[in-house]
Amino acid sequence: MSIHIGAKKGDIAETILLPGDPLRAKWIAETFLENPKCFNEVRGMLGYTGTHNGKPISVMGTGMGVPSISIYAHELITQFSVKNLIRVGSSGSYQEHVKIRDVVFAMAASSNSGVNELRFGGADYAPTADFELFQKAVEVAKSKDIPIKAGNVFTSDEFYADDFESYKKWSKFGVLCVEMETAGLYTVAAKHKAKALTILTISDSLVTGEKTTSKERETTFKDMIEIALELA
Ligand code: ADE
Repeated sequence: MSIHIGAKKGDIAETILLPGDPLRAKWIAETFLENPKCFNEVRGMLGYTGTHNGKPISVMGTGMGVPSISIYAHELITQFSVKNLIRVGSSGSYQEHVKIRDVVFAMAASSNSGVNELRFGGADYAPTADFELFQKAVEVAKSKDIPIKAGNVFTSDEFYADDFESYKKWSKFGVLCVEMETAGLYTVAAKHKAKALTILTISDSLVTGEKTTSKERETTFKDMIEIALELA
């Protein structure tokens, strides 16, 4: 077991899906995996391993924000030999053409997070998706007829930003949407030579003020999970 994950070596598959919410991890395991077994309850950050089409796959919550996902990604890779980390999360749109319920693949993550500023002494590091996982995810989406958008996303340390209008600066530079974890995930994966990809579903729009209900989020989440499961 590692400091934050109460599993034994071999309990976690090489490929893991990472929603922010641990109860979402439970729902994914119970809805999409065969024979899911819980491997972690430490801090309520539920994690499960089962199979999908006969292939082992795990799913675990990450909590919210760069520090939280960075801890879990670090331990999953270095202590449990996880190779492919796929974040499945929700996101707020920064663009008129990025609509509620759209699926977005994060090619790269801009950020205001203090973590990489600390790590790189104020210089800019560009956290990017693993190309192989990204390419495969595009092919899977095509084969399932699920339309996707792909590009730069924004990883924010703030959910309730003091300066709401500040999103427009990122929007002007083509950033598609905002979430709170990808820059951390991509950086930790790169450091430890693992592969990472973030797949997002748009749950709200900063442009129009629209929001999905939690019921809607559940149904629209399915497209994203079905793509992610095929990456095992
Ligand atoms: N995740 C979903 N919507 C978000 C938003 N508006 N800001 C940050 N993270 C989000």
